[in-house]
Amino acid sequence: MSAVPAELDPLPLRAGSPEHKRLLAQFFFDTHVDYDPEHIPWPGLSAEELKRLTGLPFWQEAVSTENVTSHTVTAAATLESDPQLRRAIALQGFEEQRHARLLAALTAHYHIPIEHPPPYAPRNLEDDFLFAGFGECFDSFFAFGLFALARESGFFPADLVTVFEPVMEEEVRHILFFVNWVKARRRQLPWWQRPLFRLRCGWIILKQIASRVKTARTLGAGDPTAESSENFTLTAHQDIAAPITLHGLLGTCLAENDRRMAHYDARLLRPRLVPGIARTLHRILPKRL
Ligand SMILES: [Fe+2]
Ligand SMILES: [Fe+2]
Repeated sequence: MSAVPAELDPLPLRAGSPEHKRLLAQFFFDTHVDYDPEHIPWPGLSAEELKRLTGLPFWQEAVSTENVTSHTVTAAATLESDPQLRRAIALQGFEEQRHARLLAALTAHYHIPIEHPPPYAPRNLEDDFLFAGFGECFDSFFAFGLFALARESGFFPADLVTVFEPVMEEEVRHILFFVNWVKARRRQLPWWQRPLFRLRCGWIILKQIASRVKTARTLGAGDPTAESSENFTLTAHQDIAAPITLHGLLGTCLAENDRRMAHYDARLLRPRLVPGIARTLHRILPKRL
């Protein structure tokens, strides 16, 4: 496959066409990287750095999220009848499991107490996959910005930040794959089933938005327990970076999202909803907020 750089104006591909599906699977295989979480040379930390790392409130939530996502995505490969796309979803499941293994290795190495939840069994495979995918579109967008802030603030040693760079890049690929897959999936349905599929997606997105609005409001009310609850990518900037306004955080997330997405073939659709909401908020919110 020859990738089309994002700066060139590409010929659009019809979502769900054989060329689109081929490109989608091929981009995913071509950009997969090899690493082994069980053989990572974890950097030594000073007592102060170790205290900061182990004191972060979101480890348990991160482990629980990866548990749900990895089992859902792995099982979701069976949803797909196209053999290459099925392989690509299975590969994504492998990568999600590797995130869970990486977290297990990190928490074991630095003695962070974690309870490992039982493997998650999806209830409704397609709904769970859509829920996980749209959730990742929100979480990854904020994670890109947080990661940049953590890197710049020097809160963690650079060696430790570097270990997580492949995870960030994998999340870029996952949401890129997901938004294209959803579009292709919808196009392949008989015309009379498409509105219902759209409605289901809309309902799932609304549930994801409602959950984040709830987190943001709890934060606004100054609830100290909010940061250890779900949606930790929305709140973690308080823990890992120098103080930053919401306006500043959104600006960083937008810039990082654009920078990371620019590396991939421009013929693939980009996630638009979360960056669109963030761009609007960034435009209307006062800078001091
Ligand atoms: Fe993940
Ligand atoms: Fe992911």
